[in-house]
Amino acid sequence: MGKSVIILGIESSCDDTAAAVIKDGKLLANIVASQNVHKAYGGVVPELASRAHQQNIIPVVDQALKKAGVGKEELSAVAFTRGPGLMGSLLVGTSFAKAFAMGMNIPLIEVNHMQGHILAHFIKTEKMVEKGEESPEFPFLCLTVSGGHTQIVLVNDYFDMKVIGETIDDAAGEAFDKAAKIMGLPYPGGPLIDKYAKEGNPMAFTFSKPQLPELNYSFSGLKTGFMNFINNGTAKNPDFVEQHKADICASIQYTIIDILLNKLKKAAKQHSISRIAIAGGVSANSGLREALYKLEKELGWKVFIPEFEFCTDNAAMIAITGYYKYMRKEYSNQGVAPLPRYILGSNE
Ligand code: KG4
Ligand code: ZN
Repeated sequence: MGKSVIILGIESSCDDTAAAVIKDGKLLANIVASQNVHKAYGGVVPELASRAHQQNIIPVVDQALKKAGVGKEELSAVAFTRGPGLMGSLLVGTSFAKAFAMGMNIPLIEVNHMQGHILAHFIKTEKMVEKGEESPEFPFLCLTVSGGHTQIVLVNDYFDMKVIGETIDDAAGEAFDKAAKIMGLPYPGGPLIDKYAKEGNPMAFTFSKPQLPELNYSFSGLKTGFMNFINNGTAKNPDFVEQHKADICASIQYTIIDILLNKLKKAAKQHSISRIAIAGGVSANSGLREALYKLEKELGWKVFIPEFEFCTDNAAMIAITGYYKYMRKEYSNQGVAPLPRYILGSNE
């Protein structure tokens, strides 16, 4: 047997500092330190995020190696998120990875965060191997929905990905978070809308949907419409939001999901593909999951939804992408710098 390939993955693109270890394609440790400092501000404050990454990165990597039972001298390579993301946040992970690779004299591998979200579908844990869980076969479509991105990607291979539709303004996660903020809910509001929506009627209120050509999305009009709706309701009844919280959450969630799935259905039809995957933080949304499983039955789709911990930002997805790049010897050099607008499918 050949020598094992052990990859350390580092993720620091937004407000989660994360490290993971993958050995021969199998996940040994996945550690995430989430930052709570942003809650008071109702959104991620870049300067605070960068400082928290600096504090967290060494302990998080240390914990990941300990949990994996791997010594740093055993590592084959270190993979890190080069972008897209916040410059100050990316700098911390990038600098750490570069120094680590140089110190240990191992290859350095840059990873595109969006490619990582998609390749999260290929992470294998002990439990998944035992259960015989399958990863999607190529080609498949992936709806990547997070706080910063909303894309429909045609995935032909680990390295051949084409964005066939994307948002022209806000991301779907942003739409959730902004709606929550308008309702007076704390940041990030997406998970809270999901929680309250469970008790509400999705048909209670209707909101106008964007009419965009092709496979592109827009969520900024919905945000404005929602703000007017809340302002009008509150003007007539100051307790409007509190009294109708569940129905409002269910209705706005239903609208966002409907917008997302209409374009996804269109894309599946256009490309004659029935293997449909989702990725990114919003794929944790229970309404979206249910709606997809319903379409699986109705349209004969095969739906792939990653485990919750691999949906939101994590380093396991960076490590698995690094693993596939390592097998192709796609290394970066010490001159590599963060790329806050790193486009999926581009080299620069
Ligand atoms: O992928 P992610 O962790 O970070 C980014 O790269 O943006 O996604 C975070 C986004 C946030 O907007 C958050 O509100 C949203 O995912 N989110 C959810 C849920 N869980 C996370 N949105 C709706 N329902 C959820 N259950
Ligand atoms: Zn993300």
